Amino acid sequence: MTNSTKNEALRHEPGPGYPQAVKSPQRDDLFSQIEQLKREKNAVILAHYYQDPDIQDVADFVGDSLELARAAQRSTADLIVFAGVHFMAEGAKILNPARKVVLPDLRAGCSLANSCPPDAFAALRAKHPEHFVVSYINCSAAIKAQSNVICTSSNAVKIIESIPADRPILFAPDRNLGAWLEKKTGRKMLLWQGACIVHETFSERKIAALQVEHPEAELIAHPECEASLLAKAQFIGSTSALLKHVIESPKKTFIVATEEGILHQMRKQAPNKELIPAPPNQNCACNECPYMKLNTLEKLHAALRDETPEITMTEELRLSAEAPLLKMLEWSTQIGKNA
Ligand code: 13P
Ligand code: SF4
Repeated sequence: MTNSTKNEALRHEPGPGYPQAVKSPQRDDLFSQIEQLKREKNAVILAHYYQDPDIQDVADFVGDSLELARAAQRSTADLIVFAGVHFMAEGAKILNPARKVVLPDLRAGCSLANSCPPDAFAALRAKHPEHFVVSYINCSAAIKAQSNVICTSSNAVKIIESIPADRPILFAPDRNLGAWLEKKTGRKMLLWQGACIVHETFSERKIAALQVEHPEAELIAHPECEASLLAKAQFIGSTSALLKHVIESPKKTFIVATEEGILHQMRKQAPNKELIPAPPNQNCACNECPYMKLNTLEKLHAALRDETPEITMTEELRLSAEAPLLKMLEWSTQIGKNA
């Protein structure tokens, strides 16, 4: 079953115990208009796991950053509607210069990408010219263009392990993923001090209380979380790896420390598992990415209909950013199926 067929099937079969989406004639109408526009325009909708359930359900492909980059690379659609954040849509454009790429809300940025301004990064690189630069995909095209290779949370360990042991590494922009990679690979790296506001929001005190209440629960976490939380997690992985783990693990209950949009696919694909979103520090919805959530079904429909707002960049920047991205996809394929 292709991912597109699988999503089509899942759309209408949420599984027992999964709360039904609030249905309204307007919502159903938007779904059918989106389907029709997709056919008319030979368009494809790619969505990240952190998008709203409705957006995930209308998408042709839902995945983590690596899977989405690969889906964008092999796409033959004339129009790519990228339901995710700016750096992801930019990645799709870098890999698909001849296709139009639109993002439902152009303001959908990323705190991690924003934490690494190109000029300041160039200055750090200039001080360490001998370093091999590995950038996490959550960065702008201008940072990708200054990198030797890109990685995602799915392939980061293997990418770092592929770099000759005597070569010093500069890793940007996520200090938490960087510190976790140092621990996993034993490689000391120079780390850019960026972070994701969502993954640094979890309350270890509240998680500890949940673990007392649910002693059978397994704590699973994304590597963008802080080291002290990761030290307590029983499983660490990218969004796709967390989803796969919940589906395949014999355990029944999970405390999930990542953006809570992923729970939608977990509930659909593992309807008999109990899923507890890790609580944020404040009494807020801070475990929801405010950037991802700027995209809505209505904005997605408008972006598909009007083919705007479009992602554009100069060809010079695109070519410089493409090389390390292609290197990642190439290395990733060589390293193995899951990297
Ligand atoms: P992955 O889906 O690659 O795990 O990335 C998570 C994320 O933070 C995307 O912004
Ligand atoms: Fe960026 Fe964090 Fe949102 Fe991912 S969850 S897009 S890393 S701010």
